[in-house]
Amino acid sequence: MRHLIDPTDLSSSELQEIIDLALDIIADPAQYADACRGKKLATLFYEPSTRTRLSFTSAMMELGGNVIGFSNAANSSVSKGETVADTTKVISCFADIIAMRHPIEGAPLISALNASIPVINAGDGSHAHPTQTLTDLLTIRRELGRCDNLTIGFCGDLRFGRTVHSLIKALSRFENVKVVLIAPDELKLPAYMKEEVCDRYGVPYEEVASMEEAMPLLDIFYMTRVQKERFLDQEDYDRVKDCFILTADKLKNAKPEMRILHPLPRVNEIAIDVDADPRAAYFRQVENGKFVRMALILKLLEWSKIPSMERRLLPDGTIPNAYHCSNPKCISNHEPVETLFRPDRANPGKYRCVYCESKPRS
Ligand code: CP
Repeated sequence: MRHLIDPTDLSSSELQEIIDLALDIIADPAQYADACRGKKLATLFYEPSTRTRLSFTSAMMELGGNVIGFSNAANSSVSKGETVADTTKVISCFADIIAMRHPIEGAPLISALNASIPVINAGDGSHAHPTQTLTDLLTIRRELGRCDNLTIGFCGDLRFGRTVHSLIKALSRFENVKVVLIAPDELKLPAYMKEEVCDRYGVPYEEVASMEEAMPLLDIFYMTRVQKERFLDQEDYDRVKDCFILTADKLKNAKPEMRILHPLPRVNEIAIDVDADPRAAYFRQVENGKFVRMALILKLLEWSKIPSMERRLLPDGTIPNAYHCSNPKCISNHEPVETLFRPDRANPGKYRCVYCESKPRS
């Protein structure tokens, strides 16, 4: 069985295969119109979504398949207390592939561990959003003709921004990618991302105080929303919500070929006057999301039939029930699951939670 829970579940060549297939679908969509005839995708969305859920729906329909599922867990038996594991076992009886979004980190991994069909993580809390990453990579490839030799600036909420974490992980597999980080102190990139991804895979990064300072260096400017739903305290959110706002005026020192990406939705971090700039690629990015999800569905269904394509879900050195996770939004603190910790790749002798990558509770 093959799942996509984290961008690192895909090898560099598999990532490339998905992007190439998406480009082929764009060139000749009619060729794929019956590719999933008789198949069902279950979209299990425990958290709101417009782009991800509807692009998955649209992708499966354009492949000739059908879609079942829920967009509000309150209308399902989740409201009666059904766990992610049990829900997954049930849905495995009805569908051929699952796309799950959940506000609790690690929920899609629990689903994959209990599924008899492929599971796709459609976003889990602040942790990961690998299909947004595929969307971003396809967009960068179509807009710039390459995904290597890039300087990419990430701006806004780099702490809770799952799209940022996943894209940096995926870009660490490409040659000569440099990262510029623009965030207030409260929303800086988590230490595990700097140590276990940037340092370990040789992705140079620098933290700068303003977007104007970064702008002339960048091939991609990746803007993100400060996510109100991730804050426990309204005052903390109010203090940082308008920390960085991109306006047309701030683009005057940007390269003519630079592209502006944003996973969307935006609130007010990109002014409307930027939309008319040809470098604003965020609505083209949305459409790429449908094509790349078509490619992903096809590849996961294909790879799941080939025993040699099977991959283990748990990292080497995973130990069960040795620690408790320090993250209140980790699935291990919400449902009766085994705690699982893997070695910390930057700090020998230390461990991190397999579900959400947080440290153990002290
Ligand atoms: N980019 C993204 O995940 O958007 P939605 O929350 O609308 O799915």
